[in-house]
Order: sequence, then C-alpha cells, then structure tokens
Amino acid sequence: MAGILQGLSYFIRTFGCQMNENDSERIAGLLEAEGASKADLVERSDLVIVNTCAVRAKAEEKLYSFLGRLAKQTRGRDTLVGVVGCVAQVQKAALWEKKRLVHFILGPGHYDLIPEIVRDKRRERILVTSQSRLWREWPAGRVLHSNPWSAFITIMEGCDNFCSYCVVPFARGREKFRPGRMILDEIRELARRGVREVQLLGQNVNSYRDPETGGTFPGLLEAVAALDGIEWIRFLTSHPRTFATDLALTMARNRKVCRQLHLPVQSGSDAVLERMHRGYGRREYLDKVRILRDLMPEISLSADIIVGFPGETEAEFEDTLRLLEEVRFANIFSFRYSPRPFAAAAREPDGVPLDVKRQRLVAVQSLQKAVQIDTHRSFLGRTLTVLCQGRSKKGAGSFAGRSEGNQVVNFSSEAEPEGPFVRVRVTSCGPYSLRGERSGPDPAGPIST
Ligand code: 5AD
Ligand code: SF4
Repeated sequence: MAGILQGLSYFIRTFGCQMNENDSERIAGLLEAEGASKADLVERSDLVIVNTCAVRAKAEEKLYSFLGRLAKQTRGRDTLVGVVGCVAQVQKAALWEKKRLVHFILGPGHYDLIPEIVRDKRRERILVTSQSRLWREWPAGRVLHSNPWSAFITIMEGCDNFCSYCVVPFARGREKFRPGRMILDEIRELARRGVREVQLLGQNVNSYRDPETGGTFPGLLEAVAALDGIEWIRFLTSHPRTFATDLALTMARNRKVCRQLHLPVQSGSDAVLERMHRGYGRREYLDKVRILRDLMPEISLSADIIVGFPGETEAEFEDTLRLLEEVRFANIFSFRYSPRPFAAAAREPDGVPLDVKRQRLVAVQSLQKAVQIDTHRSFLGRTLTVLCQGRSKKGAGSFAGRSEGNQVVNFSSEAEPEGPFVRVRVTSCGPYSLRGERSGPDPAGPIST
C-alpha cells in the first residue's frame, strides 16, 4: 500500500512510562500505515521523534542530552526532528527558543498530526500543545505492538489529583476517558491476532467513567475478562485514595485479573502524605493492603516511593522504612524528590540536602532488596506459569518472561517456546529476578493451572 510517507525511514526514542511506550507504538503504527519504515540508527533515519517524560528532573535531563548527541549525529543531514510528549507540553517555550534543531513540538493528544507534518516538511516549524477535556480517539487499528502476546491499552489519560510534587496534571491535562466500546473493540481485535495479556493504562484507572454509558472501572474490567482469548489482565495506575473495595472484589472474582497491583504509596508518613496532598494516610493505605491480601492472599503488591520531599524529617523518613517492612512489597520504584514546573511543592524550598536524599534512597533500596531476596527464596522449587517475552541476553537457550505476580523470570529451554505461556520450575533467584528451567507441558492458558 503506497502511503504519503513511502520510502521514509524513522527512529523513535521513548523516555518514561508505559503510556509513553504505548503512544510511541501508536506513532510507529501511524507512520508505517503511511509507508514509512523503522530505522535502527538515528544516522540512517529521515525522521527522529523523541517522546519525552517530565515526571522527574532526571527524565527531563535525558531529553537534553539526547538532543545534544542528535545535533552531532545529524550534522550535514536533512533529518526532520520532532519532540513530543510531556516535556514538549510543559517546556514548549524553552524548546522552541533554544532548540532550533527541533522542527515540531507536539503535546500528548496531537500525534495523529505527525504523518501530515512530516509529508509537508520544512514549510515552517510547528508547535501544537492545546489541551482538551474530551477523549480524542486514534485512527483505528494502527498500533505497532512490540510484543506479539502482550499489549498496552490506554483507557484514560490525564489526572485531576494535583499531588503537590507532580507535573502530570499539567503535562497530560485533566482526566479524559476513552469509551468502553472502543477499548473492547481494540482488545477483541488484539485477541484475534494472538494477544493473551492486556495491561490497561491510565494515570488514574480507578476514576474511569465510560463517557457514553457512565460505566465504572470494575465494570470495564469484568467486560475485558469476558473476552475470549484474553487470559491475563493487569492495570495501572491505581491511586490508593480511590482504590475501593468493589475493585478489590472484582479482582478477586475474576481469575483472569492477575494477582498483582501497583499501588503507589509515596511515603509512610501521615504528615508527608498530607503535604503531598495524597488524600489518604498510612492507616488507610494499610487497611487497603489488608483487604487485598484477605481476598487474594498471593497478591504481589508494588509501589512508588519518593524520598526527600520538602521538609521530610528523619522521623518521617523512618516511617517510610517501617511501612516497607510492614507491607513487604514485591517490588518498588523509588525516587529522590525533584521540584517540577507548575507543581505546588516546587514553590517551597527544596529543603532536604542532596546527600541526605541520596542516603535515604540507598536506605530504602537496600531494605527493599533484602525483602525481595527473602520473598524470592520462597519461590524456590515452585513451578510458575510465565508469559514469554522472548530470548534473553544470556545466550542460546535462555529466555525471559514474567510471572502472574509480574516478577521477571529467566529460564532455560532447549526449544524456543511456541506459545505465550510456559511452565517454569524456579531453581535459583536474585533480588530482582527468578531463574528456572522449563518444565512441560505448556499450559493451554494460565487459568487451567
Ligand atoms: N520527584 C520525585 N519523584 C516524583 N514522582 C512524581 N513526581 C516526582 C517528583 N517531583 C514519582 C512518583 C510517581 C512516579 C511516577 O514518579 O513516585 O508515582
Ligand atoms: Fe501525579 Fe498524583 Fe496525578 Fe499520580 S495522582 S499523576 S502522582 S498528580
């Protein structure tokens, strides 16, 4: 099929979260539908798109160093460069003024303009960053999923919570919900093509409301679970304030919903949570964890943690360590606080010195590492169902996948797995992964195990 971009080669660099990954898959799908093809090097591409993340200062710095390298790599070449995503949205003026290398700047929600911008290249520099409160659907059927068996599906975008440290409501705008019928159509089509695991994405999936029917997130989850072919369902992110018992009950009732939940706590201190405007306290969070574990004893929980929030005292930080000991998360993502544009906390002095933040991060990560080693040991000798992700870098006969609890499982197998799911007997472990050997026969689907 000849499209408007026939013969063009493109390169996309993605920073940040799963939603950015999914957006890049969609951009790639749009470009390829118009005849463009993927290049494996910047130097060989006519078009370079950088999909950016603004959530922490470090993520933003990565964009600037990438652009620095790009200027050298594209010198003397006629490469078209676009910066899209969250930094494009919140730093548009600085990018426009200071980065003449960049031809187009698009905030989230405007990526369907890319094929035409590229076709008409060089007429003028382009900047589009308007934000809407309404869902804007993508052209149908044009997503280039990177894994044949697992797919991200965006169900909502944006956030109305305004946590005091966070730039996301400014970068992604206010909450916008995708109609359920479009979500289900997309998943049905993916299932037809062999996808077995879906991960429903949104900054705040719990607040999902079908804009056409008023349906809620638990209702959507039930509807996805009813689709033939889909075996594993995950979703993220859930805000602890709005994580309600009815969602926990829906998870428990549906065996297709993985026994795994990302529930970012951010801090174990009531005073810090209050200053972060999180809308829940330590007790409330622990109560939700207890309900989840009562209903699903084997559930794997993960969280995000910020250390060094403005004014965080030693005692407040200790509360976070105690919470980690109490909950024993399967996994955490921990960060040093950094002030972000537009976020309320950025107006306060960033009071915790850098070396203290560093020490606190090390303390959090080493405590968590010990918890994970301990938890992983309890998996030794057990046989798990694993969704394959392909060959691992460890050489011939080595493969990688993920368990229902979302643990990384590396395994050996004489033959390349044919199906998405395999059974793996766990023989050794480290803090960040499990290792094992394939132990047949492969399950038809994980529900049967
Ligand atoms: N500084 C450090 N970490 C942050 N996060 C969000 N904003 C900041 C910030 N200003 C973290 C939170 C969030 C995750 C995606 O990034 O933990 O859950
Ligand atoms: Fe940011 Fe809070 Fe919204 Fe999450 S809930 S995206 S941390 S403002």
